[in-house]
Amino acid sequence: MLDLQRLASRIHNCFDCDLSQSRTKAVPGEGPKDADLMLIGEGPGFNEDQQSRPFVGAAGQYLDELLSTINMNRESVFITNMVKCRPPNNRDPLPGEIEACNKYVNEQIQIVQPKVIVTLGRHSLGKFLPGETIGKVHGKPTQIGDLIVYPIYHPAAALRRHSLRLVIESDFQLIPSLLKGDIEKEQTDDHKSQQLSVFE
Ligand code: URA
Repeated sequence: MLDLQRLASRIHNCFDCDLSQSRTKAVPGEGPKDADLMLIGEGPGFNEDQQSRPFVGAAGQYLDELLSTINMNRESVFITNMVKCRPPNNRDPLPGEIEACNKYVNEQIQIVQPKVIVTLGRHSLGKFLPGETIGKVHGKPTQIGDLIVYPIYHPAAALRRHSLRLVIESDFQLIPSLLKGDIEKEQTDDHKSQQLSVFE
């Protein structure tokens, strides 16, 4: 836990990009150090920025519901974001902002060593499977080194577009099998070549 606490305190004191100027509070992420499942979203919104906790607004409530459909809850998973500070007016994080925060995401992965990373939406998808589109790869697990990366739509997208709800709810149901290691994963040459670069 100490490692995660130290990392969180570095994040709270980080001024490596302009998001640090407009944030109320940084949102390092939270969850057990030995979590098998890590969820990576995009960045804090209004509520997260106020409370310094990830996914506590409407998207977070929906995420809690999704977890409950597979008999899990947020206490058992590690939840974080690609950027740890809120982009003004909830705009998309800029590439430089994602790059500035990438070291923190990597350290979180190294400390927690999850079995499965679920990427929520396209920004965290881009870290692991650059060039892929969420419409094409959602619901398809990929093995990257020791890790299974499982892309799904962002819960906020499903709240905006009702038709995505069925998709995200159905994609969620595969997570328990992935955690048990029961499922065939895709491992294309493209993805294998990335194993080397993902954590650099
Ligand atoms: N959306 C995200 O991507 N992350 C949060 O923490 C909240 C909403």
